[in-house]
Amino acid sequence: MNSFINKFSLEGKKAIVTGGAKGLCNGIAQALHDAGAEVLLLDILDIVEESAKEMAKEGPMVHAVKGDLSKADELDGVYQECLEKLGGRLDILLNGAGIQFRAPAAEFPRDRWEKIISINMSAVFYMSQLAGRTMLEQKYGKIINIASMTSFFGSVMVPAYSASKAGVAQITKALSNEWAGQGVNVNAIAPGYMATELTANMKAVNPKQYEEITSRIPAGRWGNMEDLQGLAVFLASDASAYISGAVIPVDGGFLGK
Ligand SMILES: NC(=O)c1ccc[n+]([C@@H]2O[C@H](COP(=O)([O-])OP(=O)(O)OC[C@H]3O[C@@H](n4cnc5c(N)ncnc54)[C@H](O)[C@@H]3O)[C@@H](O)[C@H]2O)c1
Repeated sequence: MNSFINKFSLEGKKAIVTGGAKGLCNGIAQALHDAGAEVLLLDILDIVEESAKEMAKEGPMVHAVKGDLSKADELDGVYQECLEKLGGRLDILLNGAGIQFRAPAAEFPRDRWEKIISINMSAVFYMSQLAGRTMLEQKYGKIINIASMTSFFGSVMVPAYSASKAGVAQITKALSNEWAGQGVNVNAIAPGYMATELTANMKAVNPKQYEEITSRIPAGRWGNMEDLQGLAVFLASDASAYISGAVIPVDGGFLGK
C-alpha cells in the first residue's frame, strides 16, 4: 500500500461499537474490522457473543460485552470491562445503539420518552465522556456518533427520537470544541432513510409518508448498511484528521432537495 492509502487503514486500532450486535452498526463494525481494527461489540442483546464470533472468523480479534446503555449508573463498570478486554487502549468509539417509537405527540407515553432519551442521547454523552478520558490521556481518539435526518428536522410522530438525535448532533459539536485540539476528533454520521427493521413499520403504519419520502430522495432509493461503511471507516481513520464537529449526511441527496 502506498502511504496515502495507508491513512485509511485501521490496522492496530481498537474500537468499541455500541449497538453492534445487529443492524446498521453491525455492518459498520464489520467495516472497521475489515479495515484492520480490533473491535468490541457492546449491546444489550444475548446474540452479541454470536455476532462477535461470526465477525472474528477472519482478521483481528472481536470481543463482546453485554450491557444496557439505558442504565447510566452501570456504564462506568461496562466501560471498564470493555477497556480491559481491549488491553487498556481505545482508538475509536462508535456510538450506534438507538431505539425508536412512533406515536402522535399528544399521546406519546412518558416512559418511552425517557427510554429513548436515555439510550439515544444520554448514553452517547456518558460513553463519550468515559472514552474521552482515555483518549485525552492518549492524545488520540476518534468518536463517531450516529445521528439522523431528525438531527436536522423534526419529522412527525417521533418527537423523542427527533429530540434525541438533535441532541446527538449538538453533543458532537460540543465535545469537538473541547477535544479537537487535543487529538480527539468527534464527528457524526447522519444516515438518511435506511431500509431496516427500525423503519419497516413506517411502511405499514403510514404508507403515504413512506411513498412521499421515497419520491423525495434524489438517489431514488432508501439507503442500506453498505452506504454507511465508507464514511465510518474514513472518520475512524487518519485520513480524516482535520475533520471534527461535523454531522455528515449519508442520505442519497435528501437534505439538499
Ligand atoms: N434505520 C434507519 O433508517 C436509521 C436512520 C437514521 C439513523 N439510524 C440510527 O442508526 C442506529 C442503528 O439503527 P438500526 O436501524 O440498525 O437499529 P437496530 O435496532 O437494528 O440496532 C440497534 C442496536 O442497538 C442495540 N440497543 C438498543 N437498546 C440498547 C441498550 N439499551 N443498550 C445497548 N444496546 C442497545 C440493539 O440491541 C441493536 O443491536 C441507531 O442509532 C438509529 O437511530 C437508523
